[in-house]
Amino acid sequence: MNLPDINVRAAVVADTAAMSALAYRSKKSNGYDDQVMALFEEGLQITPDRLQCRPFWVAELDGQIIGCIALDPLDGRTAEVRSFFTDPDHRGRGLGHQLWQAMLTVAQSQGITRLLAHADPATLRYYENLGFIQRGEVPSRSLPGRMVPYMARDI
Ligand SMILES: CC(C)(COP(=O)(O)OP(=O)(O)OC[C@H]1O[C@@H](n2cnc3c(N)ncnc32)[C@H](O)[C@@H]1OP(=O)(O)O)[C@@H](O)C(=O)NCCC(=O)NCCS
Repeated sequence: MNLPDINVRAAVVADTAAMSALAYRSKKSNGYDDQVMALFEEGLQITPDRLQCRPFWVAELDGQIIGCIALDPLDGRTAEVRSFFTDPDHRGRGLGHQLWQAMLTVAQSQGITRLLAHADPATLRYYENLGFIQRGEVPSRSLPGRMVPYMARDI
């Protein structure tokens, strides 16, 4: 089923608490236990400071934030897709796709030609379906000693 009443828009500071809670809930749905989630927690916070560093978009349904995505420009041509999370209660309904399209349109309009992602292993296949190719592995930003897929896609 699709989500016809979804509103995808640029995030504002007032959204950050709801976005952080969503990010935590969404990440946890990949099967991590509380101990591992405690290690992820700081990195999952979407603070007003982080909002100033890069553009974020949110998906809203009936005033509730149920998805988000961010674009982190690395240089004039390359940017990293970050904070890509949808609410576990609304999966498989095209929400991720809508967020992806909103981000992609802006990336292309800004002259970005290559997107990168540090994928959670649970979402490797999802990124592959978006056209990303795994280029190797990089250390997790949150879990010492863990390697995660490093993905790239030309746009
Ligand atoms: C990845 C994610 C954003 C996708 O969101 P979504 O709203 O379900 O995406 P869509 O509805 O647009 O796409 C659904 C399609 O992707 C597939 N899909 C969803 N999550 C997937 C996953 N983790 N791995 C493989 N395929 C996945 C669905 O089966 C569905 O396929 P279909 O259209 O052939 O039926 C969501 O699963 C998520 O938030 N995951 C947990 C957080 C996370 O790890 N995010 C990535 C950070 S690196």
